[in-house]
Amino acid sequence: MRPTQAPFPATRLRRTRQNASIRALVAENSLSASDFIWPVFVRSGEGIEEPVPSMPGVLRRSVDKVVEAAREAADLDIPVICLFPYTDANNRTADCAEAWNPDNLSNRATRAIKAAVPEISIMTDVALDPYSDTGHDGFVVDGEIINDETVEALMRQALSQAEAGVDIIGPSDMMDGRIGAIRQALEGAGHRNVMLLSYAAKYASAFYGPFRDAVGASGALKGDKRTYQMNPANTDEAMRLIERDLAEGADMVMVKPGMPYLDICRRAKETFGAPTFAYQVSGEYAMIMAAAQNGWIDGDKAMEESLMAFKRAGCDGILTYFAPAMARRLAKARA
Ligand code: PBG
Repeated sequence: MRPTQAPFPATRLRRTRQNASIRALVAENSLSASDFIWPVFVRSGEGIEEPVPSMPGVLRRSVDKVVEAAREAADLDIPVICLFPYTDANNRTADCAEAWNPDNLSNRATRAIKAAVPEISIMTDVALDPYSDTGHDGFVVDGEIINDETVEALMRQALSQAEAGVDIIGPSDMMDGRIGAIRQALEGAGHRNVMLLSYAAKYASAFYGPFRDAVGASGALKGDKRTYQMNPANTDEAMRLIERDLAEGADMVMVKPGMPYLDICRRAKETFGAPTFAYQVSGEYAMIMAAAQNGWIDGDKAMEESLMAFKRAGCDGILTYFAPAMARRLAKARA
């Protein structure tokens, strides 16, 4: 397959690394702001930007401030903003009814962004954990996370998000059958253009810790999510999940977490050729930020290198908390 290379010194691989312009010329991959989906946390109130301690630089924003963030993202050419609600404690109940309340935080933020920043696309999360008193993504009965009843609730949640005007729905719950059920519900209600970005290969990971702080689910969560999220030991199972979700009507698929699972990204892209995303999750962000704050690594360079790795692994885009910082860095490099 590969042509044989001439022996040294005819071949000197350092020739094409000798200066910045030549390195740019032979670069195999590149990053651009259009690769990013920016996850943001929404909370109640007005005029509030509240730091998340375990995610330095990340804020929980009230709806008016989320609209400002969407404006900022659009100006940086970031194509999609992804909303995660921090639900007030009194709206976290066993029946999770707040999840399909047309006036919940996620839906209010969606309508406000659509009115003020129509050019940005909006992605939302489908899962019950921000609305449950257990911290789990599904209903819990006698200690079991029950699948089919949860899927019914996820359909209602997805429909309420579509009614509010979202462009992309991201089911992150890992219940079986939810992509097909949600797709059918959307088609049935006339939401033909709403996209599904399935969290298809989502692993039961220790790297979600800071996110659970950010959405206020850490305290409630008893046990772990290993009966629905994947075992980090597995690869073939990820391919089966992705294949199934595409067959049920997912438009795009995701691997999550990102950096520890680049092998899965590569294999998914090569196997299916579908739009493939990775989620550089909260713990990955926190590790880089913590080391940078201690002066142990160059944070900006580590950010860029970590994001380039996803492109090299075959991803079409990345969900990352670094989206605005990296977009600014790219704009500066161009200026
Ligand atoms: C839960 C959900 C999680 C994340 C996105 N949606 C956490 C979990 O599964 O417990 C994690 C994102 C991150 O860590 O940045 N539905």
